[in-house]
Amino acid sequence: MMSINRTRLEEAITRENERFTAEHPRSKQLFERAKKSLLAGVPMNWMERLVGRYPVFVEEASGSYFTDVDGHRYIDFCLGDTGAMTGHAPPPAVEAIIERVRRGTTLMLPTEDSLWVGEELSRRFGLPYWQVALTATDANRFSIRLAREITKRPYILVFNWCYHGTVDETFITLENGVARCRPLNIGPPVDPVVTTKVVEFNDLPALEKALAPGDVACVLAEPALTNIGIVLPEPGYHEALREITRRTDTLLIIDETHTICTGPGGYTRAHGLQPDILTLGKPIASGVPAAVYGFSADAAARVREISNIEQADTGGIGGTLAGNALSMAAMRATLKSVLTKEAYDQTIPLAKRFTDGVQAVIKEKGLPWHIARLGCRAEYWFCPDPPRNGGEAAAAVDEKLDYYMHLAALNRGILMTPFHNMALIAPGTRDADIDQHTRVFRESVEAIL
Ligand SMILES: Cc1ncc(COP(=O)(O)O)c(C=O)c1O
Repeated sequence: MMSINRTRLEEAITRENERFTAEHPRSKQLFERAKKSLLAGVPMNWMERLVGRYPVFVEEASGSYFTDVDGHRYIDFCLGDTGAMTGHAPPPAVEAIIERVRRGTTLMLPTEDSLWVGEELSRRFGLPYWQVALTATDANRFSIRLAREITKRPYILVFNWCYHGTVDETFITLENGVARCRPLNIGPPVDPVVTTKVVEFNDLPALEKALAPGDVACVLAEPALTNIGIVLPEPGYHEALREITRRTDTLLIIDETHTICTGPGGYTRAHGLQPDILTLGKPIASGVPAAVYGFSADAAARVREISNIEQADTGGIGGTLAGNALSMAAMRATLKSVLTKEAYDQTIPLAKRFTDGVQAVIKEKGLPWHIARLGCRAEYWFCPDPPRNGGEAAAAVDEKLDYYMHLAALNRGILMTPFHNMALIAPGTRDADIDQHTRVFRESVEAIL
């Protein structure tokens, strides 16, 4: 197998950094100015970690493309890390959004759109009752709270190297098989070891052991891990996960925020999963902040039993802007006309084309890498075989290589999802865009062998 030449990698990074600076003078100017009013010169802490010496400032975005303030046009395979999986500014959502903005956006009262959305979500995901939040993080946090309240159990369980948003309880990892607070966890309110159990994905004996004492309120799971590379469940894993959680009276929360890339009803509908609670955010309102969480009939009945109307506004589930008229109108339009089966019929074959292209280069160059795909999402990872779990996937992270592959792509007009080598395909992407990525991928690899 061919290995990366580290000296050539360092040289290539220097070259790419220089090219980036030479070609993005206006972004640099804005960044220098931003440093005077924004902490670290960015509106959001993780923007400081993007590739290049400073962030590319965006001018506008449409469909699968965006342009920056220096006039470069990019193919967008990041799509706001799934927030824009619908493509940017999809016309049916834009129209509904403009129309709603003119008629008032937030009232602390429901609009009729919320009924349409609830009915459609029930039809898509098979869960009868729904609630609305502003972000997927909140949908997860509220679901965990309810799971704790109805089961009266102290722990939750997550999978090693999961990501479910900034949910305090989930920042836990396994180090040599021992649970510990995830490194660089900022100001944890309590050590997550107190609140959370963690096991590897695809490890049924570990799951069985963790749930056996009957003290876990819920398992919070992506049906396939997507934030530490794509780690797919092994055959029979989900059936066993459901059987063990039912047997131990542990609620199963399936987080579909990224795996909605599988199809219109997410991984849940495509594979017949039966969660007690399902959470989903990001693309559901075409980029307008909104998220949802749905309950099985049984889970809903248990929630209703413990609901105390007196504490509805201060009981820990909130968000003054949640369920606002604008989010609901955007969600309705998105579910009705954007995140449709027809859209997936377009994007999934394109993701296959992307995967085949990268796979062919990996083979041709004899690289010890692999690529995995889930619906309209694909991701290459720097190890020869697909990892079975988060621990194996994390062991293959190569920060330098990662930085280089992203920057080389960016300098050639392609934005990949930051922090991992993920591509998501939006409707309207063309075969030529995918083939452009394959060419750039080959060229980038050839420079470092
Ligand atoms: C699976 C999953 N769930 C939830 C979230 C949280 O989403 P948000 O940051 O929009 O709240 C993320 C964010 O990346 C995610 O990947």
